[in-house]
Amino acid sequence: MPHRVLIKPSNHTFTVDDNETVLDAALREGFPLPYGCRDGACGTCKGKLLEGRVDFGSYQDSALTGDDRSAGFALFCQARPLTDLVIESREIGAIKDIPVKTLPCRVQKMERVAPDVMVLHLQLPAHERLQFLAGQYLDILMKDGKRRSFSMANGPHDDHLLQLHVRNYGRGGFTEYVFSRMKEKDILRFEGPLGTFFLREDSDKPIVFLASGTGFAPIKAIVEYAFHKGIERKMVLYWGNRSLADFYLREVPGKWQQEHSNFAFVPVLSEPAPEDRWNGRTGLVHQAVMQDFDSLAGYQVYACGAPVMVEAAHRDFTRLKGLPESEFYSDAFTISRDTHIPRKSGP
Ligand code: FES
Repeated sequence: MPHRVLIKPSNHTFTVDDNETVLDAALREGFPLPYGCRDGACGTCKGKLLEGRVDFGSYQDSALTGDDRSAGFALFCQARPLTDLVIESREIGAIKDIPVKTLPCRVQKMERVAPDVMVLHLQLPAHERLQFLAGQYLDILMKDGKRRSFSMANGPHDDHLLQLHVRNYGRGGFTEYVFSRMKEKDILRFEGPLGTFFLREDSDKPIVFLASGTGFAPIKAIVEYAFHKGIERKMVLYWGNRSLADFYLREVPGKWQQEHSNFAFVPVLSEPAPEDRWNGRTGLVHQAVMQDFDSLAGYQVYACGAPVMVEAAHRDFTRLKGLPESEFYSDAFTISRDTHIPRKSGP
């Protein structure tokens, strides 16, 4: 039986059909609640149930803890109403009017930028443009019905080709295809744009960007877009990789730092190789931020990469450095329980 949902504080209402999740119904009816993985793993869609009951669905405990549930929270990407509901959730105005499309594209160029990182440049059909916000992702639709999510590494101001950063996990599927059989001119299909990881432009707070591995991709899009728009907020990027061999495209943020006085770059290696002769920062990338900032109370943080890094940053920045919960934006690479393949182009 369909159920009505009232969103607070906006007072928007929508109907959830049988077997639909709250998030799917909200998006279908044009109310963009925040989300990331749509898989119960990242916690981005967490919101409060003010009235009514839901089937909470399946999810990872780190995304919705027992304390969260006791406090009335649910993951709207998994929750299915059992009664009419009143929920409390932010709505993301900026993505409201952007259509999600399913499109073919052609692999225009493949660049092996590190032993296990490939940059794909995708060309859309001549008459098509993809409207999106810098930092959003798309799902590659595979022939067997599986999906694989990748952040777009280019901004909408530079949309001649879509750029994806693909890490080789060696676990088969799409990644294996990219690194062993894909050829330039191959045709792919994708759905996008998706996700709510994008720059909040209604703020003038300085920004800390935090990336691990190919989590650099959406942050590259956001930073390039910010430069393009002439945004003068102070920005610092902490980017962590294991060793220098993994540090693909590191000349890009190096160049940004030279050309923009409001941007700084802090590369961090967790396991530098002896031949790296590394005398820069070492250790966990979020720990480097913890060391450098007495307080993050006046900042926005945008974090993308391995879930363990994103979770640690969220926990430590909000609990120990005074970062407001609402100023932490993230996009974690998560493992889809349905397909057992990475949902994002992870590190
Ligand atoms: S947990 Fe719901 S979108 Fe990630």
